[in-house]
Amino acid sequence: MNFDIITLFPALFDSPLQAGVLGRALEKQLFHIEIHNLRNWADPPHFVVDDAPYGGGGGMVMKPEPIHRAMETVRRKNPRSRVLLMTPQGRTFRQRDAISLAREEGLIFLCGRYEGIDERVRSWVDDEFSIGDFVLSGGEFAALVMVDAIARLVPGVLGNELSAGADSFGDGLLEYPHFTRPAEFAGMRVPEVLLSGNHGQIARWRRRESLRRTLQRRPDLLDSAELTGEDRAFLESLRKRPEEDQRR
Ligand code: ADE
Repeated sequence: MNFDIITLFPALFDSPLQAGVLGRALEKQLFHIEIHNLRNWADPPHFVVDDAPYGGGGGMVMKPEPIHRAMETVRRKNPRSRVLLMTPQGRTFRQRDAISLAREEGLIFLCGRYEGIDERVRSWVDDEFSIGDFVLSGGEFAALVMVDAIARLVPGVLGNELSAGADSFGDGLLEYPHFTRPAEFAGMRVPEVLLSGNHGQIARWRRRESLRRTLQRRPDLLDSAELTGEDRAFLESLRKRPEEDQRR
């Protein structure tokens, strides 16, 4: 998998890509990432990348020419890459997008800055993504969030192949609670079933806690989650219980 990032602030990508899971995966060359400084495609002598908006008003707009040149150059190297524009106006990035984008050969992230990007740029991109209903000062952190979510799904990046499968949202539900030693801490005991060694019962408990948690925190996810008849019956029983009982 190839990630190309076109940005006016390449330095923002330095340390986040060096540490942890992504840092290790990059060292092992499980994916490649190249950061491109958009200013390199602006015209000398001043290398201007923005201009005032037609029609007046405040703020500056990113000019189309440097972006077009940057995209053409990067695309020539990776012709099958999908080009993604980071913008609060894009559709909201979700785990299912991470899963499908992880199957691409390459992704080119275009990071906006200033008030916006010349509208014509939108016709050259394959997709537009937002990471949530808030406005960042640029698309760089959005691109980093997406690279992280996608790269960890690339085979071999997570040490344990199973770890991504049980993720929250993987099957449309939030993940079950986790515990580690000690079995009792600050008066709180780890649920007995987890100490039992009975894998069938543990799996059942985890599924139910996952359902309980999703019902409590993100009931909206249940509309599109993959649920069995047993799951539905359990959710129904939770819905019938008093509020206090549901919150455990
Ligand atoms: N650029 C500014 N805000 C953004 C957001 N919420 N998502 C993606 N790109 C952005």
